[in-house]
Amino acid sequence: MFDPIRNAPAHATAAVAQVRPAGERRVTRETYDRVMFQTYAPAAFVPARASGSRIWDTEGRDYVDFAGGVAVLSLGHCHPALVAALRAQADRMWHVSNYMVNEPALELAHKLVEKTFADRVFLCNSGTEANEGALKTARKWASTHFGERKHRIISTTNAFHGRTWLAVSTGGSPKYVRGMGPVPAGITHVPYNDVDALARAMDDDVACVILEPMQGEGGMYPGTPAFLAAARELCDRHRALLIFDEIQSGVGRTGALYSYMRKGVTPDILTSAKGIGGGFPIGCFMATEDVAQVMQPGTHGTTYGGNPLGAAVANTVLDIVDQPAFLARVLEAEARLRAGFEAIDARYRLFADVRGEGLWLGCELVAAWKNRASDFMKAGHRHGVIILTAGNNDILRFAPALNITDAEIDEGLARLERAVAELLSAA
Ligand SMILES: Cc1ncc(COP(=O)(O)O)c(C=O)c1O
Repeated sequence: MFDPIRNAPAHATAAVAQVRPAGERRVTRETYDRVMFQTYAPAAFVPARASGSRIWDTEGRDYVDFAGGVAVLSLGHCHPALVAALRAQADRMWHVSNYMVNEPALELAHKLVEKTFADRVFLCNSGTEANEGALKTARKWASTHFGERKHRIISTTNAFHGRTWLAVSTGGSPKYVRGMGPVPAGITHVPYNDVDALARAMDDDVACVILEPMQGEGGMYPGTPAFLAAARELCDRHRALLIFDEIQSGVGRTGALYSYMRKGVTPDILTSAKGIGGGFPIGCFMATEDVAQVMQPGTHGTTYGGNPLGAAVANTVLDIVDQPAFLARVLEAEARLRAGFEAIDARYRLFADVRGEGLWLGCELVAAWKNRASDFMKAGHRHGVIILTAGNNDILRFAPALNITDAEIDEGLARLERAVAELLSAA
């Protein structure tokens, strides 16, 4: 039986954040506005301590975390097993570089090969790097076997694949590359879930198709079985590789270790990050033998990828998450959250749609509240719950820890409802 308390950190007994009087603090939220690049609009509070699905800010206020660090904290904040793995490895060895292998990295790659379709794994530090490496691998594979002409990348509009040059160009949001052109050539975007558009875009010059099995940032749209199957079939027909970006959907998020396992469509390359490190920065891409063997010494590399600290944590995450009872609990928690959203909607008629898979759900706001999702996020902060937005600021997005308890779900929903009531009563 899955025991959410034994498997979750003992946040019930955790000490509340140490609150330092404001006058004694050298840095505050205002420091962000003065000394950091203004690339984000962070919340008005500064988190100081966290445990399980609970965060305390520097003022000692607590928040239920329905965001999970943007689908990263698969086991919540400071899970005791992850803390122990990190501490043990920190005492043993931090870094050796890729001139030498290390046991945690070998174990991690071994585990991923055992658990997935892949024969080989490349370890890196983030999701963006994983996609960059996957796309480079696909182009190298295509040019090795068919010549340089086979270079085209097919992606989808509103896709999100990260922030490097190639990742933003491959992603489907022109706003992320505006003013930074010219962008890399040879990339075509087709509407997500549009089988005909994908078929029209394909030809024998395509090296790869890259897809999120469910679009997250783009608006929480699950890939239809027809679209994912067509992508596989078209890639096979045109001798192109299918890359699944499972950076947000992977590691238990949808109730399967990787979401492709639920979809019945297997990619040639899969990228993973976020949840696999449970909060420690690590990413990877994995592929079949045929694909991986085009990458030889010198074709790709990273200083920190495969470092023992990240690998030790990721090994522990996989051991805990990839258990039938743990994954079944994700779906149970999904049902509880969905029931909560339905109850809120029954009272306030706020959601045009609730969609998603596992603990990765989006509530699309009705027309009257279009583009106001960030207002609900801010109201959530005032009422002690942390949520995300997605799409065109019209979706409330939820990606809590996979081991969130029923009590945390209920408390978070109650706080969300208070935030909704505040906004709707002021309208
Ligand atoms: C589907 C997807 N791909 C790639 C990335 C980029 O990952 P990272 O921010 O770790 O570079 C993200 C991050 O949100 C993502 O959701």
